[in-house]
Parts: sequence; C-alpha cells; structure tokens
Amino acid sequence: MIKISPSILNVTSDKIEEEVKSLDKAGADYIHIDVMDGNYVDNMSFGPETVKEIRKLTSKILDVHLMIKPVKPSIKEYIEAGSDIISFHPEADENSEEVINIINKSNKSAGVAIHPKIEISEIASFLPKLQQVIVMTVVPGFGGQKFMNDQVNKIKKLYEIRENNNYDYKISVDGGINNLTKEECIRNGVDILAVGSYLMSRNKSEYKQVINSLK
Ligand code: DX5
Ligand code: ZN
Repeated sequence: MIKISPSILNVTSDKIEEEVKSLDKAGADYIHIDVMDGNYVDNMSFGPETVKEIRKLTSKILDVHLMIKPVKPSIKEYIEAGSDIISFHPEADENSEEVINIINKSNKSAGVAIHPKIEISEIASFLPKLQQVIVMTVVPGFGGQKFMNDQVNKIKKLYEIRENNNYDYKISVDGGINNLTKEECIRNGVDILAVGSYLMSRNKSEYKQVINSLK
C-alpha cells in the first residue's frame, strides 16, 4: 500500500496547527516537513522549533527533509525536536556517514534525498544503513514545480538494488506529484508519495478524498 506524506512547505506559521490536525484526520501517513536554510537552497522555511511544535499536534510519522548545508552541526536539534525520519542531502556535508550513524544511534530513521543532479552511484555506499531514500523529481527549493520525468529511472534502480541486497529502505518521491505523475512512480516501485501543492492547494474538506485517490 502506497503511503502519503503531505508537504506543509507552503503553510504559514499561523495555519500549521489546523493544517496538521486536518491532515492527521484525513488519513495522511506521514507529515513531510521541508527544512530550508537559505544556504543549501536559496529559500528559508522551517527549523527545529516547527518540528517541536508539530510533534505536539500529531502522532503521525514526522518525515523531516533537511535541505541544509552543512548537516552535522544541527542534526542533534532535529533528533531532539521529535523527528521520526530525518533525510538529508549527502553532498551538503562531508561527514554524511557520521550523520547517518548519529541518526541511527538515536533510534530514528535515517534517509538520504537525491538531488536531480546526483547519481545513485554517488550515494550507493550509504544504502545499507538507510531506512528511506527520497528521489527528488524537482530541484529542491520550492513547491509547485513541474515533475521531472527523467528522474523516475532512479526509483527503478533503487528498487532493484533493494531487492537484490535485502536492504531496508523505503523509496519516497518528492516534487510535482499529482494523480498523473504518481502512476509512473508507482509502476517503478515507489513506496511513499510526498505531495505538496496538488493536495495543499485545496480546501481541507477535500483532503481525505485526495489522499485516498492518490493511494
Ligand atoms: C521541494 C520540497 C518538496 C515540495 C513538494 O524542495 O522538498 O517537498 O514541497 O511540493 P510539490 O508537490 O508542490 O512539488
Ligand atoms: Zn521535501
């Protein structure tokens, strides 16, 4: 069964509580929290305080996507804030192996997010230790961009590598997901759909129906 991880990137701070509660009620499996530092990407968004706040609002899995550079100096803060899965971009830190070890030792799930310009071969050494891999189908930085078809082959490769090696990671796809683009991802073996504007641009009363239709 496909899991849905709504991205609250475009939710303003005064609306976080009602949006998270609505997504929780509507059957979201995860809450995808995009953390941007104005350095790894130009944009700035949430920090550990927002993760802490959301932790109090829901018992859903907090799927924290770090778009920050470097990663290691802040990793403890995100662990302590109550994240369940922490994914980061390995090219943003020369100590990526250590970052994964720190996350795993804290009994949290470690994930790597793959920028469209990064190849699977560049992150392959991390795969045995990961619980999640996010295939980015847009350039990280903001929501509402067009889905990049040429990235879907990474989902297939990751699926094959996992089957051949008995690895544990779940495969997530993030960027431009809607009822059409999801199809190709599912065909290629994706487990989790991170969904921003396709879901969040709607009225809250539609969340449940849209989440179900994506599943
Ligand atoms: C992009 C973020 C995504 C984004 C997805 O940098 O990582 O999670 O919010 O939004 P949509 O689904 O609108 O592309
Ligand atoms: Zn994201």
